Amino acid sequence: MDASDFSVSDIEDILGHHPYGSDVSLIAVMEELQARYRYLPQDALILLSERLGVPLSQVYSVATFYNVFSLVPRGEHLISVCLGTACHVKGGDKILDKIRRELNLESGDTTEDYRFTVEEVRCLGCCSLSPVVRIDNDTYAHLTQERVPKVLKKYQPATGE
Ligand code: FES
Repeated sequence: MDASDFSVSDIEDILGHHPYGSDVSLIAVMEELQARYRYLPQDALILLSERLGVPLSQVYSVATFYNVFSLVPRGEHLISVCLGTACHVKGGDKILDKIRRELNLESGDTTEDYRFTVEEVRCLGCCSLSPVVRIDNDTYAHLTQERVPKVLKKYQPATGE
């Protein structure tokens, strides 16, 4: 699903899961939008602002504050490469370079086929496992450059797909 799939009825549908009133959580609605589109389409945020009566500036400040949200389309799989101190010392930047080379990511953070998005993070909260990479909900501890191709292969379509 991408921006071209955005529709007003999608927003109405999502809002329907979060009853209007004081219980409406802007973040909860935005999380559902992010999950559905893998980013927050601008038109969706404008509509959300209107429907919830929340200033658009506030919607954008939430969208840009939390890493979980993205204002540009992300790939199907999010690769978070830790470059915090512990991971940096153990070669996290070399792991990042290897991942980018394997995915042919010369510029930008998302592959052309929107299968992967690569992001740098400051700490994944498991420094003793450094260097650490998280792909979606999977954590790869003590990752080496040599293991990177095999790890990425798990997220590629099966041959012949
Ligand atoms: S610095 Fe990488 S997990 Fe903490």
